[in-house]
Amino acid sequence: MKPFPQHLLSMNDLTRAQINRLIDFSQPFLTLSRDDIRKASTMRGKTVINLFFENSTRTRSSFEIAGKRLSADVVNISASMSAVKKGESLMDTGQTLAAMQPHVVVVRHGDPGSCQFLAEHMQGTSIVNGGDGAHEHPTQILTDLLTLKKVWGDVKGKVITIVGDIKHSRVARSHLLAAKIMGYHIRVVAPKTLLPLYIEQMGCDVFHRFEDALVGTDCIYMLRIQNERLKTNCSFPSIREYHEAYGLNMTRFSLAPNALVLHPGPMNRGVEITSDVAEHAQSQVLNQVENGVAMRMAILSTLCGLEAL
Ligand code: NCD
Repeated sequence: MKPFPQHLLSMNDLTRAQINRLIDFSQPFLTLSRDDIRKASTMRGKTVINLFFENSTRTRSSFEIAGKRLSADVVNISASMSAVKKGESLMDTGQTLAAMQPHVVVVRHGDPGSCQFLAEHMQGTSIVNGGDGAHEHPTQILTDLLTLKKVWGDVKGKVITIVGDIKHSRVARSHLLAAKIMGYHIRVVAPKTLLPLYIEQMGCDVFHRFEDALVGTDCIYMLRIQNERLKTNCSFPSIREYHEAYGLNMTRFSLAPNALVLHPGPMNRGVEITSDVAEHAQSQVLNQVENGVAMRMAILSTLCGLEAL
């Protein structure tokens, strides 16, 4: 198998075999109870820095818990508490942290390409993209693939319908890349104002009416409107009308009654999803969170070259 890359910046950094290897490697971490797990000392002596310039509940705590459960030393830095507030550049912040010799730095930043930039300027460190603007979020997709594999066995040939703010979604973009590598199909559903230009060339089927996309769908993947990235407030008339056209409620869910429901979080209940669907037995939202810790344990230890342990 091709050696695992030094950095995890994009889904395109990984081959299908490497993605499957990460999924397999995360399985034993799923079966350990939270009381046993602390005994896993795989990453003793390794340092992980979580460098977060954007808000996060799931991704940051997931990497922190993953590192700690493997006995790594985990340091959390959020931009609001860092020297960035004193005018320090991203390059200087990166080089300062690199001088402290962490093994892995997980970066979340509002600018696309920022993780790539840090990977080029932080010598001797592995950078993980924890979400760079509207660009990519590979560890969320690896978590989703683990979640889907647990239920389906294989994602090949399945149809995943992604609904909502595709234009500003790093999750949608990374799924579009992963679908090509893993052989699943993507349908996207959104108003034209929330679709990127040339979306048809990204290898997916495009729908503007939610109902039209649902027949034959194996998974409905709901997205939040990325209000922080909308440049104007006129992408849709109002939240109420958005919900009526693009919200997942029980009536729409009944058109794909066997589909799994996924959402990367945070959910805006009553906007893109109603509570009864979010809490339905086929909803995987909390499983995604649980599986996220195991997947990030697999990612951190693989980047530290501890894959064989
Ligand atoms: C997503 C993100 O930050 O890109 N959330 C996550 O990481 N679980 C999606 C979002 O913020 O809407």
